[in-house]
Amino acid sequence: MKLRTIIVIIVSLFSYRIVFCGEGMWLPILLKSLNEKEMKSMGMKISADDIYNINKGSLKDAIVQFGGGCTSEIISNQSLLLTNHHCGYGYIQSNTTLEHNYLRDGFWAQVRSEEIPCPGLTATLIVSMEDVTSKILQGVDKSWDENKRRNKVDENTEKLKLVLPKLKDQDVLIRSFYNGNQYFAFIIEVFKDVRFVGAPPESIGKFGSDTDNWVWPRHTGDFSLFRIYANKDNRPAEYSKDNKPYTPKHFLPVSMSGVETGDFTMVFGFPGRTTEYLTEEASRQQIEVLNPVRISLRDKTLKILDKHMRADERTKIQYAAKYAGIANAWKKWIGENLGMKTTNGLEKKHRADEEFKKRVNANPAYSDYKNLVQDLDFLYRRLEPFAKSREFYAETFNRNIDLVNFYQLQKRLMDTYEGRGEATFNAKKNDALINIEGYFKNFNSAIDQEIFAALLEQFHKEMNPAFVFNYLKDELKKYNNNYMAFTKDLYASSSMTNKDSLAAMLSLDYKAWMDKVKADKLWIFYDELNYYLANDITKMCGDLEDQIADLKRKHMAALMEVMPEKKFYPDANSTLRVTYGKVEGYHPRDGVQYLAQTTLDGVMEKYIPGDYEFDVPKKLQLLYKNKDYGIYGEDGKMPLAFIGSNHTTGGNSGSPAIDGQGNLIGLNFDRVWEGTMSDINYDPSICRNIMVDARYILFIIDKFAGAPWLVKEMQLVYPKKKKSKK
Ligand code: ARG
Ligand code: GLU
Repeated sequence: MKLRTIIVIIVSLFSYRIVFCGEGMWLPILLKSLNEKEMKSMGMKISADDIYNINKGSLKDAIVQFGGGCTSEIISNQSLLLTNHHCGYGYIQSNTTLEHNYLRDGFWAQVRSEEIPCPGLTATLIVSMEDVTSKILQGVDKSWDENKRRNKVDENTEKLKLVLPKLKDQDVLIRSFYNGNQYFAFIIEVFKDVRFVGAPPESIGKFGSDTDNWVWPRHTGDFSLFRIYANKDNRPAEYSKDNKPYTPKHFLPVSMSGVETGDFTMVFGFPGRTTEYLTEEASRQQIEVLNPVRISLRDKTLKILDKHMRADERTKIQYAAKYAGIANAWKKWIGENLGMKTTNGLEKKHRADEEFKKRVNANPAYSDYKNLVQDLDFLYRRLEPFAKSREFYAETFNRNIDLVNFYQLQKRLMDTYEGRGEATFNAKKNDALINIEGYFKNFNSAIDQEIFAALLEQFHKEMNPAFVFNYLKDELKKYNNNYMAFTKDLYASSSMTNKDSLAAMLSLDYKAWMDKVKADKLWIFYDELNYYLANDITKMCGDLEDQIADLKRKHMAALMEVMPEKKFYPDANSTLRVTYGKVEGYHPRDGVQYLAQTTLDGVMEKYIPGDYEFDVPKKLQLLYKNKDYGIYGEDGKMPLAFIGSNHTTGGNSGSPAIDGQGNLIGLNFDRVWEGTMSDINYDPSICRNIMVDARYILFIIDKFAGAPWLVKEMQLVYPKKKKSKK
């Protein structure tokens, strides 16, 4: 007996030591109970209370959702907002012309009045969060199917939104966690006057571009600066030239001390979506079926775009953001597949399923869970052909071309007429007419056609014919499967793909407009396609996915019940999370060990004069040559980026990396390629997030851009005594 107790103690001590593995995206409100102890043991000096507190300014008050998909943080008492260059990209690009090329040359507002308004951009702060599970699930019966349950949940959600206490200018957001087992309500403040303050040239902010994207070692100064403006009462408001910089409840001081391997780090932000609790079968589908479809179609798109962008500067500007977006996910999926393979990820999923089944079978109290995994697997296998086709359709006809936008414009107008009447329809049609330039600014019909024809060919050759819509089959027959000829006619015969004819179309009154649209070949094409998709593919997927959602919720709850020793974190859902880890390198493959930090030296090693990805600005070369790093260098080097074992995902871009004292040490912008499978299978051996060193950001602002007033606005701190180094 005694011996057993001792063994148990030893084993649990041992497992406590190895338990920390960087995995987890935790809810700020639960840090105290779940994570604080571990965080402190790893070097955190502040408390969970300093991170999330609704009664005083805490770290969370400096963390801002930037637009819909990125994170940013407040770094001065005048709400200077730091995010990634690639998060600000759309706003930098939309203010770029051939004359004022902010992408190429960078931009720095010299005075407040030069800060550029960004219509449509929002900055969202979290005021508080609260568990509302019992209210949302009130009256929901366990036996209900997913549809019925969802209706009741929606109804309860709408009701609750009306009664949760909040100020007039605040909003409520209610989100589901643990696959629908728990619900939290967030009171948020959405600021709508956010202005562009500064960004380095692309040759710094996007250095290495798509070749280096997702890759370590990295040398990208991926940052840009914005500012939140508020009305005279310091409250959220629409843009007005009378607005003033928002005075935040908290802002992050910036650490000048830098980092070393082993240092505690945490990343605070809005991770978008992960699926960590998939069964082996579901993961396999992702890796072996869906990713390959997406990757191979995007291979084609990217080759075509690359060819044209390298050949012509205007095309490069036009397609830069689109290319980056398409390439980004493409490369991530490739890395995901690679990482699953090298870490035997599916094998690990298999073992997890087996462990679950074993525990369930061993305990009669769990008899309800007996078939969960098996039933899920069955549904996933039924879903597979439909899910695969859906990806094929989406990649071929939606995600990689602009053509679809022209159809969607008309579709939206049609819905407006049906839903909101002729007056609103006319107003919207008029708006479209006024904004018509926007549809053509970054559209090159010849390039779009080349992509469309190439994707269509692959679609037609590889898709199961049973899932190809008849209209397309017939059309292609008419053209003898000459994909380019079909494409050319489709684009040429439509009035929507040409500025003048689209303008003429939008100038018609409802009746004439409708007749014209309905006779348009492009309209007919997408209408047929969408009709087929909605009735055959999406509907099947939806039915099966409803059943899957139901089982996934039960599976999640069962996992938590049968593995009480494990701490479960909810999958990412674009809500505020904390993840923590350490500064550490990794061992990506045999014979290779990566260090945790890079310096400006690496920029010069990668420098290719005139190259579109690896050119280096003259000024930066000069600073390097003279080692003119101001107060930002360390031991004669200019630190640039570092990696750590923080569990991040898309949406964490622009998140602050914070030290044990709550200071900003870096800016999250990427993950290492081999570790992008952390969205389905975090593995501590190779999953690392990539951050720009805060000192490099300051160095670029101050020494490179000559904008020291921005640094003056910040609070620089020196939390670590410099160790004397030889
Ligand atoms: N991989 C990063 C993320 O997922 C950066 C993407 C932007 N950079 C680029 N070269 N495309 O958002
Ligand atoms: N670049 C990503 C983003 O935009 C962050 C990298 C990741 O996916 O971890 O959110």
